[in-house]
Amino acid sequence: MALASNTSSVDPGVKVELGRRYRFSASHRLHNASLSEAANHEIYGKCNNPHGHGHNYILEVTVSGPVDTATGMIANLADLDAFVERQVLNDYDHKSFNEDVPAFRNVVPTTENLCIDIFQRLKTFPVAKLERIRVEETGNNSFEYAGDNTEGIQP
Ligand code: NI
Repeated sequence: MALASNTSSVDPGVKVELGRRYRFSASHRLHNASLSEAANHEIYGKCNNPHGHGHNYILEVTVSGPVDTATGMIANLADLDAFVERQVLNDYDHKSFNEDVPAFRNVVPTTENLCIDIFQRLKTFPVAKLERIRVEETGNNSFEYAGDNTEGIQP
């Protein structure tokens, strides 16, 4: 036969990125205990409110890998969902970062620092390579972290 089937014609070296969106709600207080109350208030403003405040965060996870010639996929979404649920959402959703998440006992839970913590939690995904994560804190603020994958960040 001259023609290959659809699946076997896929170059196994072709790399595709998969992006998947998740949501979680959590609260934080932006406060650095090594600084004075006045300095904290000046730096963080109303985000330094002692009682904290909440956000409905959106997390975007991007992984990449070769397209499996049998499934046509780089990763099964169910596998990624279960991994993100176990590694991130179970610890983050409906929690206070300052009080409930040990990583933020001594680290200010800005969204920049959330990005770094999430990347560390997801980089061991066994099915595909973690490229980057992006977190929207509000409709106006978003942050992106790619670990050592600097090509993922636009200059
Ligand atoms: Ni905030």
